[in-house]
Amino acid sequence: MIKRESWATRLGFILAAVGSAVGLGNVWRFPFQVGQEGGAAFLLIYLFFVFLIGFPAMLVEFVIGRGSKRNPIGAFKKIGYEKWKFAGAIGVFTGFVIMAFYSVVGGWVFRYAGASITGAYFAEPAVYFSSISTGYGALLFHAVFMLFVGGIVYFGVRRGIELAVKFMVPSIVALLALLGIYASTLPGAFEGYAWYLSPDFSVLAQNWTSILPAAAGQAFFTLSLGMGALITYSSYMNKDDNLAVDGASIVGADTFIAVLVGFVVFPIIFTMGAVPGEGGPGELFVGLGGAIAELPFGANAFGLLFFLAVFIAAVSSSISILETIVSWLIDNFEIDRKVASVGISSLIFLAGIPVALDMNWLTIFDDLAALILLPLGMFFLVLFVGWFYKEATEELSKGMEGSRIVKIWLWHVRIPILIIIGMVLVINFNSYIAEYTGIDFIEYVLSIF
Ligand code: TRP
Repeated sequence: MIKRESWATRLGFILAAVGSAVGLGNVWRFPFQVGQEGGAAFLLIYLFFVFLIGFPAMLVEFVIGRGSKRNPIGAFKKIGYEKWKFAGAIGVFTGFVIMAFYSVVGGWVFRYAGASITGAYFAEPAVYFSSISTGYGALLFHAVFMLFVGGIVYFGVRRGIELAVKFMVPSIVALLALLGIYASTLPGAFEGYAWYLSPDFSVLAQNWTSILPAAAGQAFFTLSLGMGALITYSSYMNKDDNLAVDGASIVGADTFIAVLVGFVVFPIIFTMGAVPGEGGPGELFVGLGGAIAELPFGANAFGLLFFLAVFIAAVSSSISILETIVSWLIDNFEIDRKVASVGISSLIFLAGIPVALDMNWLTIFDDLAALILLPLGMFFLVLFVGWFYKEATEELSKGMEGSRIVKIWLWHVRIPILIIIGMVLVINFNSYIAEYTGIDFIEYVLSIF
């Protein structure tokens, strides 16, 4: 039996979870979601989902992880509910789907950091993006990205992940704060803030069927919920600290950084006279890259720092996904960590090939993960912890004995959260079917009345 690893310190766990949460979801996905879904109104709904659904749902993963000290599949057997291991299996599958496209985008980011030094994308941002975003170049940088991620996981929980995040998380915060200050000096800063912060509720009334699920998907994605990454990270805790305090710090830090990114990105976009959201997944690269090129001074340095911050954030998130799959191989099959890290990184590389060669796969994988798989995984985890896992409240109580939060949390998980995630799933399944078959059940049913 291999001795199971654990975090050296509580701070190490928190930083690792913040590193997992803060990633491309905050910097790449968040701005174009805000742009596409109508700006500040979306921001409000997103914050609502983060605090009222995401935070308690995070505790759901924590009690399973710390209660079992196992990976998301092995956890259920360990705590005596083996029938539920399918919920963990959905998570491990989701991990492959996410990593397949995440790593390709991570590769673009790495390339843009280098291209900022030379100014390669400055002259024609859109042309540059389309020349590097698909094809063999994209494939090569996808491999490079996986090399970084696999390399960290290879060294294990303490010497790999914990050590890495101690440097990475503070660097991300420092770099973004610096860039936020810089962005505030730009001529379009005020217009950017105004757009970002003044909600237009008529947009919400019109498009709520797309805004609500998008906000929920973004909240799960950015908090790393629904696939068991946080089950895995919390399974390496060796003391019974107050989970609510840890969870609140993680949610707070992730939200702070997401909102901060908006303060960097939107001033730049407005300075350029561009329209937020129009660029879709390419927005960060074409829109922002183009804007960086036009900056009145320091374009190369700004670009380098920005893409470096994004790259670090992307790597520190990816290690939580890779670690989840690797921990399953170690716990359940006693496979050597080094073999598992190299093997799974290689499989992820293969899974990402379609994305690197044809960008349509990016949206397909991304939508599948954020709109269907993550809410589906979360739904079962919430159902399990709310209604079946008898020891759940006892587990949460450790480190916060006698707190009223525990009971409130249980009932919140049992009814409101379950219903909201269930609704999100129904809406998303419906849109999915509608998109591929043209049959919209919800619209049909509503049309009867
Ligand atoms: N939260 C990360 C981001 O915002 C991505 C991520 C890491 C993730 N681990 C996850 C998303 C687990 C869903 C599930 O970039």
